[in-house]
Amino acid sequence: MKRFRPYRTTQEIRDQYADVRLDVSDFIYPYFVVEGKNVREEIPSMEGIYRFSTDELLKDVAETVSLGIDKILLFGVIADDTKDDRGSRGTSPDSVICKAVKAIKEHFPKVIVFTDICLCEYTSHGHCGLLHGHEVDNDSTLPLLAEMAYQHALAGADFVAPSAMMDGQVEAIRQRLDSAGLPTKILAYSAKYASAFYGPFRDAAGSTPSFGDRKSYQMDFRTTEQGLDEIAADIEEGADWIMVKPAMSYLDMLHRAAVRFPDYPLVAYQVSGEYAMLKNGAKAGFFNEERIFFESLIAIKRSGARYIISYYAKKQGHE
Ligand code: PBG
Repeated sequence: MKRFRPYRTTQEIRDQYADVRLDVSDFIYPYFVVEGKNVREEIPSMEGIYRFSTDELLKDVAETVSLGIDKILLFGVIADDTKDDRGSRGTSPDSVICKAVKAIKEHFPKVIVFTDICLCEYTSHGHCGLLHGHEVDNDSTLPLLAEMAYQHALAGADFVAPSAMMDGQVEAIRQRLDSAGLPTKILAYSAKYASAFYGPFRDAAGSTPSFGDRKSYQMDFRTTEQGLDEIAADIEEGADWIMVKPAMSYLDMLHRAAVRFPDYPLVAYQVSGEYAMLKNGAKAGFFNEERIFFESLIAIKRSGARYIISYYAKKQGHE
């Protein structure tokens, strides 16, 4: 008989044998940014997560930084009546994100700022690219994504993170950054699945498509090798870091990616629906909030992810 229980007798011994750990430096904390002043509105489907105007955002970033978290990811949220079919508000040099990035970099120069690159938050139809009829047109979307990335980079973003799932988006952005001589890195949302787990996010960002769904550009979750091919293509196109999204139901893909691409920092996105599920389950009394999040984040780390984007980062990050 092999005896395992001696590894588990006390907390100290269990700590000694634990080979997966969370560190505050593992986390990237997401923010939703709106225009205006004094705005700090909680997102109904994501308790504890807010939409901030830049002035309020700076206060919250100060708190985040005080917890030791040095990486944040920004999403822009704009009023519906300012959206158009090209997402013009997202690509302009004075977009809500450009202004927020400048303010953050001015006050917290050491914070590593990631910005999401996608049209869905800014288009009246809510799709991630330009429409041709009722179809998203891949190639005419690329220059707009490149322009958005360029503007964010000029504003001071450290990483741009293309999430539109247009073929060639990483290459288009890389070329644009390189030709401008900007050192900005690319975190590629490489294996991003068409997932029902994004529900609360679309609520938060007001980015639900006005018709149809995102299945013609985000990945079919019934595929396996395609995810690895997507990552390989993004690396080929110039990605610095790579991502699998969502996280908890995709740990197998995270593990495959970690094994196949050991030289590229792998990011897992614990998405809005995963957060809401755990948060609300805890609220309903089904489990202890801290323990359920800790276990889920450890599992994501154990799968091979190097970094985790999580709405729970501020709660977990400082442990
Ligand atoms: C698209 C984008 C989405 C998320 C991140 N970037 C929404 C989507 O693709 O439908 C989802 C993140 C989350 O659910 O937390 N810009």
